[in-house]
Amino acid sequence: MNPIQAQLAHTLRGTDFEELGERYVGKVRDVYAQDDRLIIVTTDRVSAFDHVLGTIPFKGEILNRMAVDAFRATEDIAKNHLIAVPDPNVVVAKKLKAYPVEMIVRQYITGSLWRDYQSGVADAYELAFAPDLKKDQRFEAPIFTPSTKAEIGTHDEPISKAKIVERGLMTADQLERAEETARRLFARGAERAAARGLILVDTKYELGEDEDGELYVIDELHTPDSSRYWIAEEYEARFAAGDAQRMLDKENLRGWLIEQHGFSGHGTPPALDDEIRVTLASRYFDAYARILGAPFEPTVGDVGDRIRDNLAAAGLL
Ligand SMILES: Nc1ncnc2c1ncn2[C@@H]1O[C@H](COP(=O)(O)OP(=O)(O)O)[C@@H](O)[C@H]1O
Ligand SMILES: [Mg+2]
Repeated sequence: MNPIQAQLAHTLRGTDFEELGERYVGKVRDVYAQDDRLIIVTTDRVSAFDHVLGTIPFKGEILNRMAVDAFRATEDIAKNHLIAVPDPNVVVAKKLKAYPVEMIVRQYITGSLWRDYQSGVADAYELAFAPDLKKDQRFEAPIFTPSTKAEIGTHDEPISKAKIVERGLMTADQLERAEETARRLFARGAERAAARGLILVDTKYELGEDEDGELYVIDELHTPDSSRYWIAEEYEARFAAGDAQRMLDKENLRGWLIEQHGFSGHGTPPALDDEIRVTLASRYFDAYARILGAPFEPTVGDVGDRIRDNLAAAGLL
């Protein structure tokens, strides 16, 4: 049996390490809070339109390995929360005060921005978009489209920089520094992607600060869950023909939900069948190989048990 098939029954849906600290269950991560640090377990859960839909074999490990790689490759741009990696699915991170705004940088109009541009929702950014943009069109320079972080179960909302400050979500200084950092991270991500024949289309950054007001990158970085990647050499021809781009990211799942199940975030989401779970896993394998430049080497087995062993070996349990 191929490893993805074999892993279908062993995916990590959640964890329950009571001794590790107080647990916060996010859509994808289980986060355990200790005094000044967090133990963050990236599970195999997959979400779309802010709903958790099921699990994908090896997804947590793949995402965590990619994020760790990206954190290490951007240390000269900004501090990040990474302290240690006791297991391929787990990081020990510095606990920071997360800004209540997701810092999104985009080089192309696609995905949710394309949907919001067509419906007028994107007016909330106050960016004065040209009226005649085409789907997947490249912007001359990256644009900054922040969103407020929604409470669990609601959707993230586009917001303008003026409103962020007006509503007291961030000070003008914090926002300016955060935007500049997000733009520099994006430039680095785009450069690294280009070296591997990929386009970094857009990405979401979560930033925060410590007690001294020092800025940090938190959460995840340049993974296919937080970033959209396209195949560079196919972009022009596909754009000219009006064809969909070849994606390495979650839009694959969004497409399956919208086109095959008429689900775009409202009502009850469909359950993922094993066929789509396997398809999505192979997309994550593909993304890993392309983005990191080496194949992902899967080890079939119970992820939760392995994490427990590794946390114990690291003295965390
Ligand atoms: N270093 C950090 N300090 C504080 N909060 C963090 C840090 N890293 C990640 N987080 C938060 O932990 C959560 C990670 O879980 P995730 O499943 O991604 O949640 P969500 O459903 O909010 O996307 C997010 O709310 C994220 O903002
Ligand atoms: Mg998240």
